Amino acid sequence: MNLEGLLQGRVAIVAGGGGGGIGAETSRTLARAGAPVAVVDLDAASAKSIRDEIEAAGGRAVAITADVRSSDGVAAIVAETRDAFGRIDVLVNVAGGMHRHASWRPLADWDEASWDRILEINLRYIFLLTRAVIPVMIAQGDGGAIVNITSISGVFGAPNHAAYGAAKAGLIHLTKSLCLEYGEKGIRCNAVSPGAVETAAVADALGGDREMSRTIPLGRAGRPADIARAVLFLASPLSDYVSGQMLLVDGGVSARFPLGIPGG
Ligand SMILES: NC(=O)c1ccc[n+]([C@@H]2O[C@H](COP(=O)([O-])OP(=O)(O)OC[C@H]3O[C@@H](n4cnc5c(N)ncnc54)[C@H](O)[C@@H]3O)[C@@H](O)[C@H]2O)c1
Repeated sequence: MNLEGLLQGRVAIVAGGGGGGIGAETSRTLARAGAPVAVVDLDAASAKSIRDEIEAAGGRAVAITADVRSSDGVAAIVAETRDAFGRIDVLVNVAGGMHRHASWRPLADWDEASWDRILEINLRYIFLLTRAVIPVMIAQGDGGAIVNITSISGVFGAPNHAAYGAAKAGLIHLTKSLCLEYGEKGIRCNAVSPGAVETAAVADALGGDREMSRTIPLGRAGRPADIARAVLFLASPLSDYVSGQMLLVDGGVSARFPLGIPGG
């Protein structure tokens, strides 16, 4: 697919843009579309490796090692991105997840520290980072695009990971609020909610269970590229009149009638 030029000169921050899953593929995809990319990750080695990959393919990238959960980390992300590329046009909040931060269990078995960890990495940091980026976009005067990676767990009830579902549902709400607050400045804010995506994180959590694919109308789990292309759409001028929306990228899972009636 030829994506060249779609984001030419539009500087993107990908929070959680290293690793080996959705974040890494989002960094690559935005770079292929012409965006200079700030690959932000707690894991320095993976951020650098994605940066090197992008540069080897002829793109522009900088690796920023920072913790998105801290105000200092957020300040460093904004400063280093502007030092490298002079502006910020796109913010993609990918870092997040469930099982690296807590274990799956019913709510009464959750401790406060686990609850707080999940809310911090799936909702709170996005407040910090977005709050730091929006004034930069406003000062530039020509809008911007924010894309939040949420989850199908934020749309449907999320048994045994209620904190994660609540955080992602909160992020969907935050997406709509930002659309309303900054639309007149030309800043769009949208969310992408993946279903099950074949990343290392999910493979671990599902124990390699492939049965799930049979419940997916398109017959397979998602791939990081499926999510990255949806992000590209929402980050690019292709979606210039789209804001405050949540796009489920789930292979059709959410289209199913929920009551299990014959023919449903
Ligand atoms: N994989 C799925 O099936 C799936 C489904 C629904 C939603 N999601 C969402 O997609 C996003 C990415 O998921 P993934 O499975 O690709 O995860 P991943 O672990 O591969 O990617 C997340 C990246 O964020 C980085 N990161 C984590 N904490 C950080 C911090 N404090 N500061 C900076 N960087 C940090 C990690 O090092 C990693 O590189 C998450 O928000 C997740 O909730 C994933």
